[in-house]
Amino acid sequence: MAPVQLEFDPSVDGDKGSYVREMFTTIAPRYDLLNRVLSFNIDRSWRRRAVSRLGWQSAPTGTYLDLCAGTLDLAAALARQPAFRGTVIGADFVVPMLRLGRAKAERMKAVGADALALPFDDARFYGCTVGFGVRNLTDLDRGMEEIARVLKVGARLVVLEFSTPQRWPIKPLYQCYSRHVLPRVGRWVSKHATAYSYLPDSVLGFPGPSQFADRFRRAGFRDVDYQPLTFGIATIHWGIRT
Ligand SMILES: C[S@@+](CC[C@H](N)C(=O)[O-])C[C@H]1O[C@@H](n2cnc3c(N)ncnc32)[C@H](O)[C@@H]1O
Repeated sequence: MAPVQLEFDPSVDGDKGSYVREMFTTIAPRYDLLNRVLSFNIDRSWRRRAVSRLGWQSAPTGTYLDLCAGTLDLAAALARQPAFRGTVIGADFVVPMLRLGRAKAERMKAVGADALALPFDDARFYGCTVGFGVRNLTDLDRGMEEIARVLKVGARLVVLEFSTPQRWPIKPLYQCYSRHVLPRVGRWVSKHATAYSYLPDSVLGFPGPSQFADRFRRAGFRDVDYQPLTFGIATIHWGIRT
């Protein structure tokens, strides 16, 4: 049988940015549904845990950035906090994703922007969250430096990202799920040929938690740490802008 022809293989073609834009534009209408189904609804609690690491209570009227905001689920998790009185700017370079999220909460604004060249002044934000976004950047270090640039000194960056479980029996079970179940269900529901094969491949290609912590420090963050969630399927990383 002939090998499966990928619609786009970033490892071969190299133009990952165009692939990521096209992919999220295509899957936008089914993105939230697939998140709920493929994570068994656990993704909502991961986002709440990420928000709890942000320390927004020290500046509840401040302006916060949610980068790679997609359909604004993580932005909304912050904006909906009962004592939150500030604004969350959700930035993403796929505007159809942002449009789908605008009604999820008040106190949010959506801005079309590339994470590698943010249209914001230096030291504008009191904190930043990124949910399942940094893995998609063509230049991780440049993205981290851009985030550091737009954060005030002392502000927190919280990154929620997929990771790879390391312990038996979760490791082989998760590998089986992410290689066989997730791509098939994802392709069937999203109608995109490769988006949900790209997902586990991009997780494998992403630095492990301690390597990513080094990249945090290099970009200008201190007190960097991380916490694995749900057997290490996802990890919350955080640090304070120096
Ligand atoms: C997996 S989605 C995550 C969405 C949302 N944060 C969440 O928690 O569900 C990744 C998002 O990152 C965005 N993205 C990827 N690269 C980007 C870049 N260079 N600049 C801005 N957004 C980017 C994509 O358009 C997509 O909406």
